[in-house]
Amino acid sequence: MSEPLLRVEGLVVEYPGGRRRPGLRANDDVSIEIAPGETLGLVGESGSGKSTLGDAILGFAPVTAGRIWFKGEDIVQADPKRRRQLTRLIQPIFQNPFGSLNPARTIGATLREGPLAHGLVSPGEADQKVAQWLDIVGLPPATARRYPRDFSGGQRQRVAIARALIMEPELVICDEAVSALDLSIQAQVLNLLSDLKRRVGLSYLFISHDMAVVEHMSDRVVVLHQGRVVEQGPVDEVVNHPSQPYTRSLLSAVPLPDPIAQRARRAARKETP
Ligand SMILES: Nc1ncnc2c1ncn2[C@@H]1O[C@H](COP(=O)(O)OP(=O)(O)OP(=O)(O)O)[C@@H](O)[C@H]1O
Ligand SMILES: [Mg+2]
Repeated sequence: MSEPLLRVEGLVVEYPGGRRRPGLRANDDVSIEIAPGETLGLVGESGSGKSTLGDAILGFAPVTAGRIWFKGEDIVQADPKRRRQLTRLIQPIFQNPFGSLNPARTIGATLREGPLAHGLVSPGEADQKVAQWLDIVGLPPATARRYPRDFSGGQRQRVAIARALIMEPELVICDEAVSALDLSIQAQVLNLLSDLKRRVGLSYLFISHDMAVVEHMSDRVVVLHQGRVVEQGPVDEVVNHPSQPYTRSLLSAVPLPDPIAQRARRAARKETP
């Protein structure tokens, strides 16, 4: 196998405890690899540590031990300058773009920002680049002058995809990127993500509750349970011949994201000092 694009080795992420709450080991000795051009699916029940792994790769989670190699470079230790460069190469697409799109800025302003800040385009070229990406994700040119509130969930997710891909990343972390969308819209957005991967040669870490979605998108799958990898392999093997009872139970579970549990966890996090 060629040099992996990403290699995570023995990763431990521990969220510190609060006054009334013990610390929590959300990733425990996690090791994964993603090859160039590969989509690695990441599944596991709510709270199993999927987003934590994505966040650690993005540099948002407190890594206690282990290594994250990106193209042979240990990025856990990256200095702030290098981290900033890496934010261009490793881009996230999250579940709720409304939360991350600035409501006071036009879509055009939001899309221009990253490429300008990273010197990918000159100010004179930025609008053309934005127009090109709006077209690629299937949105009309007038989108650039409008605001996030003017768009449906599916359209906003297309904006979020454009915002990630306009940075010319090499790895995209899709964290429940279609979970909030209606089924028919989900299919369109998944197709867009697949097309883009072929078109620009990307790798995805594809995080989802929904085994069917992961099966559709992934080359290989990693199963997390309580912060640990319990199974991994080619998607057909894991889906058709799971070796672990936990994976079998995931496969038979109704694929519903758990917004109530997610909301409760988010609230709990805000409370801690
Ligand atoms: N910032 C944080 N501070 C403290 N604990 C956290 C933080 N983020 C996540 N956790 C905890 O870490 C564990 C793993 O959470 P994580 O969000 O990675 O799970 P997940 O698999 O993505 O779940 P879901 O499918 O619901 O999105 C959970 O117990 C969660 O409550
Ligand atoms: Mg999550």
